[in-house]
Amino acid sequence: MTDKLLTGQRALVTGASSGIGRAVASALADAGAAVLVNYRSSQEDAEQVVRDINQRGGKAFAVQADVASPGNCEKLFGALEQKLGGVDIVVANAGVQRDAAFTEMTLDDWHKVIEVNLTGQFICAQEAVRRFRLQGLDPDRSPALGKIIFTSSVHQAIPWAGHVNYATAKGGLKLLMESMAQELAPEKIRVNAIAPGAIKTAINQDAWETREAREKLLKLIPYGRVGEAEDIAKAVVWLASDESDYVVGTTLFVDGGMLLYPAFREGG
Ligand SMILES: NC(=O)c1ccc[n+]([C@@H]2O[C@H](COP(=O)([O-])OP(=O)(O)OC[C@H]3O[C@@H](n4cnc5c(N)ncnc54)[C@H](OP(=O)(O)O)[C@@H]3O)[C@@H](O)[C@H]2O)c1
Repeated sequence: MTDKLLTGQRALVTGASSGIGRAVASALADAGAAVLVNYRSSQEDAEQVVRDINQRGGKAFAVQADVASPGNCEKLFGALEQKLGGVDIVVANAGVQRDAAFTEMTLDDWHKVIEVNLTGQFICAQEAVRRFRLQGLDPDRSPALGKIIFTSSVHQAIPWAGHVNYATAKGGLKLLMESMAQELAPEKIRVNAIAPGAIKTAINQDAWETREAREKLLKLIPYGRVGEAEDIAKAVVWLASDESDYVVGTTLFVDGGMLLYPAFREGG
């Protein structure tokens, strides 16, 4: 029997109780990785993800932590050390939206989104790098010392009216990822991002739930369908694997062509 793509790898997925994170955790486990399923508030959902993985013969466990808290992030990596002996792959995925027109947006809405979607990713990634260094390179496990994948968004590139906090966080994440990649590549730490387009999850339910909303959304997607969390998960498995060993500091857009300015198809 041939090894699976991620056999022997140990992975953390933040915000894995729901949506994209859940699909990513499942796909990494199906590819052979042992997975820590992080959640903030949805314990039952996270435990269900773990049960599903274990039932399919994979290895997973759930840990509660708020990624915006340095102490909580340390706890996550402590759990990885204790249960799996370390970590090789970190998918920094946890995210929230607090939408409002620009002048209606409260400072609280602004802070919350920056805190989770940008500062939380920074805190987790910083702890990951410290752990990778302590572990040291194990060429039998991977040619990389460690792999970090940020979940960004097409809105790291496309401005988004009514969501300035979210677009600012994702735009910041782009340069956080690229600057980290530049700084850490010589140590064989690979930092990349995945940028989903419109994916059917709880975060954007309003955008795909009704037929009317879906038709409006589809005008923005040349490929003609709203994305599924599994579309993102498949791409993350590849980015996390050593098949992508020479991919460093890249954002992989998985968006059905949303970034192609579809409105210009009819002339500009
Ligand atoms: N869906 C899309 O179309 C889309 C497009 C582009 C980018 N994204 C990005 O994809 C990522 C996942 O979003 P999703 O669509 O899968 O949304 P989702 O279904 O709402 O999932 C969000 C996840 O983040 C977790 N979370 C929120 N705050 C957290 C915190 N402080 N600490 C730890 N976990 C926290 C939630 O956990 P609890 O429920 O346990 O609190 C949940 O598991 C986000 O970064 C989002 O910006 C999504």
